[in-house]
Amino acid sequence: MTGQPILSLSDVSWSYEEGQAPVLRQLHLQLQAGEAVGVVGRSGSGKTTLLLTLAGLIPANYAGSFAGQRLAAGEIGIVFQDPETQFIGLTVEEEIAFSLENKGYSDQQIERRIEEVLQLVGLQGFEARSPFELSGGEKQRVAIASALAVSPQILILDEPTSELDPKGAAEVFQLLHRLRREEKMTIVVSSHATEELARFCDRVVLLSEGDLRLDLPTASFFQQIGLLEQEGIFVPDMIKLHHWLTEQGQLQAEPTSLTVEEMIAAFQRMEEQRRGRHERLNHSL
Ligand SMILES: Nc1ncnc2c1ncn2[C@@H]1O[C@H](COP(=O)(O)OP(=O)(O)OP(=O)(O)O)[C@@H](O)[C@H]1O
Ligand SMILES: [Mg+2]
Repeated sequence: MTGQPILSLSDVSWSYEEGQAPVLRQLHLQLQAGEAVGVVGRSGSGKTTLLLTLAGLIPANYAGSFAGQRLAAGEIGIVFQDPETQFIGLTVEEEIAFSLENKGYSDQQIERRIEEVLQLVGLQGFEARSPFELSGGEKQRVAIASALAVSPQILILDEPTSELDPKGAAEVFQLLHRLRREEKMTIVVSSHATEELARFCDRVVLLSEGDLRLDLPTASFFQQIGLLEQEGIFVPDMIKLHHWLTEQGQLQAEPTSLTVEEMIAAFQRMEEQRRGRHERLNHSL
């Protein structure tokens, strides 16, 4: 880890007023600028609660008891699972304008910013459309555009693709890749879509009953196959196959393959090394 974190939780515990047991327990988590961090855990493990806490909405907007410290060094945008429940505007333009209006922008600035963020999420020309009459992927991209309008450094997304079909989910992850690459955004995303997470994240954390059971770079994270399966986390097939081939001595552990193409490349690297060793051996004879 290098430099000052852009967002950090130290020793944070939280219980909802309604519940008895703490939902987050003495949790430590640090995010560096530009990092993409995935959050996984079975249903009820506290993913949404953790993201609300990172965003500062817990404890600000929720009744309960909070302990510990949260530090944030930037503006944060948040996007939830079901975009439709968040829409209040009759048009896409209005929807995005809402997040800007109480920030003191002029009408002209608002108009320009709407155009910019629609461009960013690939929805140019959608200004006058009703947000309710879009495809799932488009709706979620409007929600992301609204979150991006105020130019946050950090974007937090809670299961942004769980309500979407595969095409919509792919659109959203493509956009997240682009926001990292082109806008250098720091992104935290919870999801059950572990294949997409494995491709997208630098680091993944596993929540289990309010504890961070794992916090590891993505490749090492997904090698904890036994623990992950015990926690109900789907480990992508290709990662399992790669792991097995590593145990058989047929592949090196890293980089882990996520696609058939990556696995072919891993075999090719092994083959080249083998050939290299042969040549050196022949040379020395
Ligand atoms: N507003 C609330 N009031 C009281 N308890 C809550 C509230 N929201 C969540 N909880 C409880 O906190 C725990 C963690 O819930 P949370 O929604 O953070 O889990 P999650 O990992 O996001 O689950 P899912 O995968 O189903 O979205 C659960 O036991 C849940 O019942
Ligand atoms: Mg949740």
